[in-house]
Amino acid sequence: MSTFSIRNLWKRYGEHVVLERLNLEVRSGEFCTLVGASGCGKTTFLKLLLGQEAPSRGQLLLDGRPLPAEPGPERGIVFQRYSVYPHLTVLDNVLLALELHRSRWLGRLFGRARRQARQQAAAMLEQVGLSDCLQRYPAELSGGMQQRLAIAQSLVRAPQVLLLDEPFGALDPGIRADMQLLIQRIWRETGVTVFMITHDLSEGFKLGTRLLVFDRPRHDPQAPQAFGATITYDIPLRNRRPGDLPPDLAERIAAREPTREESTP
Ligand SMILES: Nc1ncnc2c1ncn2[C@@H]1O[C@H](COP(=O)(O)OP(=O)(O)OP(=O)(O)O)[C@@H](O)[C@H]1O
Ligand SMILES: [Mg+2]
Repeated sequence: MSTFSIRNLWKRYGEHVVLERLNLEVRSGEFCTLVGASGCGKTTFLKLLLGQEAPSRGQLLLDGRPLPAEPGPERGIVFQRYSVYPHLTVLDNVLLALELHRSRWLGRLFGRARRQARQQAAAMLEQVGLSDCLQRYPAELSGGMQQRLAIAQSLVRAPQVLLLDEPFGALDPGIRADMQLLIQRIWRETGVTVFMITHDLSEGFKLGTRLLVFDRPRHDPQAPQAFGATITYDIPLRNRRPGDLPPDLAERIAAREPTREESTP
């Protein structure tokens, strides 16, 4: 189980209200895609779900209980450019993720446990198509391969929730399509709950079961930081297309334009 209940959630940094009045119920196994203009608080929202940031107000419950204050193994995150360990091979990067997970205090496994972990890491890497690169170093991989490695590193701990922050943003279109298929397959096979930020609206509509649009409904030119973004559209995705959003909103999401507040001199 991994049901998120978000009730009147606010996040502010000092006087700067980033997110306000968020209300959301996401059930186990949903695939939510998150879109919104640049700077409107999407990454901040993922950090709240991860437990890396604390809400300023409101409740964030995981399966009815307040989210643990520390990021836990039940939640895995992949950023646009993930910092895999450059001095470790592909296999060791994934193995280390497992070791840190299984052996919290020592960060190492020994003997049979380590051999089993190696097999498991290799099997995970096979799933993401990196079997031929086990002994290579990250610098010797393409961008798409590095993202596959990052995904393997996250998934090997069998998280219940996968948080993806523009994971394919830096990839070429062809590789991107492959990665979309990969993530969809993993989602179907594991039943993991996915939250994925994207600036590519068609990707958002194609991949998810539900599209969450973040936007700022209120704006005071005198006090640009006084109001935050909230979820203005929550769209079930069956048979929906990008054209279903108001054109100006779609443009702001796709263009990576700064929000009004950031463009205010
Ligand atoms: N730790 C922090 N301290 C102060 N302000 C912050 C902090 N983290 C984020 N912010 C501010 O919160 C706002 C939202 O940032 P966030 O990174 O969540 O936006 P985003 O929607 O992910 O943007 P992008 O699409 O460009 O990635 C920004 O104005 C940013 O400056
Ligand atoms: Mg962001």
